[in-house]
This record gives sequence, C-alpha cells and structure tokens, in this order.
Amino acid sequence: MSASKRTATITLDGKTIDLPVHHGTTGPDVVDIRKLYAEGDVFTFDPGFTSTAACESGITYIDGDAGELLYRGYPIEQLAEQSSHLEVCYLLLYGELPTPAQLADFEGRVTRHTMVHEQMHYFFRGFRRDSHPMATMVGVVGAMSAFYHDSLDINDPWQREVAAIRMIAKLPTIAAMAYKYSIGQPFVYPKNSLDYASNFLHMCFAVPCEEYVVKPALAKAMDRIMMLHADHEQNASTSTVRLAGSSGANPFACIAAGIACLWGPAHGGANQACLEMLREIGTVDRIPEFIRRAKDKNDSFRLMGFGHRVYKNFDPRAKVMKESADEVLGLLGIENNETLKVAKELERIALEDEYFVSKKLYPNVDFYSGIILEAMGFPTSMFTPIFALSRTVGWISQWKEMIADPAQKIGRPRQLYVGPTRRDYIAIGAR
Ligand code: CMC
Repeated sequence: MSASKRTATITLDGKTIDLPVHHGTTGPDVVDIRKLYAEGDVFTFDPGFTSTAACESGITYIDGDAGELLYRGYPIEQLAEQSSHLEVCYLLLYGELPTPAQLADFEGRVTRHTMVHEQMHYFFRGFRRDSHPMATMVGVVGAMSAFYHDSLDINDPWQREVAAIRMIAKLPTIAAMAYKYSIGQPFVYPKNSLDYASNFLHMCFAVPCEEYVVKPALAKAMDRIMMLHADHEQNASTSTVRLAGSSGANPFACIAAGIACLWGPAHGGANQACLEMLREIGTVDRIPEFIRRAKDKNDSFRLMGFGHRVYKNFDPRAKVMKESADEVLGLLGIENNETLKVAKELERIALEDEYFVSKKLYPNVDFYSGIILEAMGFPTSMFTPIFALSRTVGWISQWKEMIADPAQKIGRPRQLYVGPTRRDYIAIGAR
C-alpha cells in the first residue's frame, strides 16, 4: 500500500485526530484507524465488516458495482474461457501465470499427492453413513494435522508449501470419499492419468466392478466450476481461515475452520439450499407465492441463490455459470428438466420485480452451479463439498500471504459492551 495525500480527521470532544489514508492499486482507499483507540479512546463499530478492510492482499479484486472479479489481475471470464483449474491454482498461489514447464512441474507435484494416508480410510469409518459430507469433511480435513506431521511448522516456508500442495491435491479425494461413504460404495482411489477435474468425477462415479469413462465436456464443466469458486477476496470463510491462522494454528486446522464456515446457507451452503428451494417450488405456477414470501418482512424465507454482499450489479461468475448450465444440460439432453424451467422463470420474474431490482438482488454463482451439479448426477449434499474443494486454493493462498506478511498480528476484534456493569455476587439462597 502507499500513502495518499488525503487525511481523514475525526473530532472527538474537541480533540482532533488525523488519520492517514492509504491507496491500493485499485479500489477504494482505506482510512488507517490503528491509532484511533490509543489517541481517542474509542473503537470503530462495524458488525459484518461492511466498511472494514481487515488486511492488505494482492490476490483477488472485486468491483461489486462493475460486476468485475480479477484473480491476480486477470478477469474471471478470460480465465474461465482459456485457463484450467490447476493453472488458476498456480496463479493464485504464486502470483503469475506459469510457463509450460512450471505448469507441468506443478501438475506433477499436485498429482503425486492425490492419495490420502491409508489409515484415513479407517478414520472415515467412524462417521455415521448418513452424515452430511460437509460434516465428514470438517472432521477429516481437521484430522489431516494428525496424519501429516511433516507439514505443520508454519514458520518453515517449505512445510507451508508442502501443506498447500497436499490440500489442493487431497481435498477432491476426501470429498469423493465422503460421498462414497455416504452412499455405501467402496472408496475409489485417484487415477493419476486423469486430469484434476476428471479424476474427481472418476472418484465420485466409478465403481470397482465397471469401467467408467469420464465425459470430456462434463470434466470441462467441472473444471470451470472449480475455477469460478477458486477465490473470492475476504469472504466469510476466507476471513475465518485468516483469523484461525493468525493465532499460529496449523494450516489443516485453518482450512477445516474455513470449511465449517462455508457450510452456512448464507455462504457456500446456498447452492444446496437453492436447489432444494427450486424443488420445493416444483412448478412454474407456484413461483409468485415464493416471490411474495421473499418480499414479506415477517417471513424469514429468502430466495436462495439471489443477492450478494459485494456484487450490486451482477455476479460475473453467475454469467459464466449460466452458459455452462445451458451447455451441460444441452449435452445431456435435459434442457426441459422441470427444475430448470422453474429456475429460468424465477430468474426472469425476479429480474423484473421492483423489490429485487431496487435492492440489486441478482442471481449469484450458487443459483446456476446447483443445476449443473444435479445434471451431472451429484446429490444436493455434495454441492457445498465441491465448493469447498474448489475454494481450498483460495484459502491456502490467502493463508500463505498472511503468514508471510511482516505486519501480521493475531486477529482480535473488540466490542461495544451492552451487558450488565459491575455487580456483586449474590449467594444462591439469597436470590
Ligand atoms: N431474497 C430476498 N430478499 C433479500 C435477499 C434474498 N435472497 N437477499 C437480500 N435480501 C434483502 C434483505 O431482506 C434486505 O432487505 P431490507 O433492506 O429491506 O432489510 C436487503 O435485501 C439487503 O440484504 P442484507 O441481508 O442486508 O444483505 P447482505 O449483504 O448482508 O447479505 C447475502 C448478502 C448473500 C447473505 C444475502 O443476499 C442472502 O442471504 N442471499 C441468499 C443466500 C445466498 O444465495 N448466498 C450465496 C452468496 S454467493 C456465494 C458465496 O459467496 O458464498
């Protein structure tokens, strides 16, 4: 960051405090309030961090008004069209697009780490079969710190690197194992002759007794879903990973914390919630009833897959995802699927409705991703695990950036206390 000529001035009880303003390379400037408490004896108050930049970062940039998303400066639309998930992983982790030799080396390193420790198979068996795959993933990814002791030292750059590669390589394997376990099928080992996305589809859908051939168009769509979810600036789960990491926790524990946060329906859990909502609506004639409910202040129902904290124009990921949905459904010959009809009509009505237009509530990435994943044969419970394995590279890149930042401190927000003031203990018999 660089200092700007602007200064923000706060006057409190007649005392003036000048606060420096810093520039990034693009986007809003920030007012540096670090000395505010020491000099003014006040905190700032910003629940939900709607006006707070919690860190410096050079990884992902979002312009919510313009509907723009850049990974290391490259527009998501260009990457989704021309790149691949593993190339995007390299870009997010190391800052630049790889040369062919660098990409081949990176792909080789990731591919060699796709198997999980054999003992982990037994660990899976401790879960109930009907566990949600996200529940299993939170547990298993957290438990990686019990299996990979040689990549836990966060102060050793080599160990940080190994942990990053391990997580990018093994999360698809773990997600596929969580799925197989939940449906009572045997685990399918990774097949390293396949590319990253095909390998994941193979581990999910192959069975030992039959040959399974991955359709290249479906693998391409899966790879695109992974790219579109790879990083998204300081969202709730990424901030969780950073906060967990700020205490010095090991990287596997931090990513498990991110997975737990992602699970919520306001965040990554929205793709599952969205498809379940579309099914609940069921037929096009019931849409007005659900639109009415979404607008009713006394009803907690929200249109899942609509709205975003940052995007107030459109979600650029949703645009690409919509194209992919059309492609995949066309390929599978299910364009006339009832859920899709409801989705398309809901989108049309919401985009014209004054409530949604005035509040700038557009379909987000989760609105379309569930439709593609369902068409591929995934149950709704696998939608958020797929988001998690795709976001892993973003979490780990942000975690690595934070650990290497000399200004890094433990994250420790303060509060506006509204509880009782000091009072004396009353003995139980006297209450
Ligand atoms: N349906 C109906 N009304 C909505 C919706 C919705 N999906 N989203 C926001 N609103 C209304 C909300 O009631 C509020 O109205 P008012 O100003 O009258 O009180 C206004 O719009 C602003 O909403 P907010 O909750 O203050 O906005 P936020 O920035 O805190 O929340 C959000 C963003 C994504 C959590 C929210 O839009 C939402 O709950 N959407 C549905 C869940 C969803 O699709 N989440 C996935 C997000 S994209 C993937 C990801 O990054 O995880």
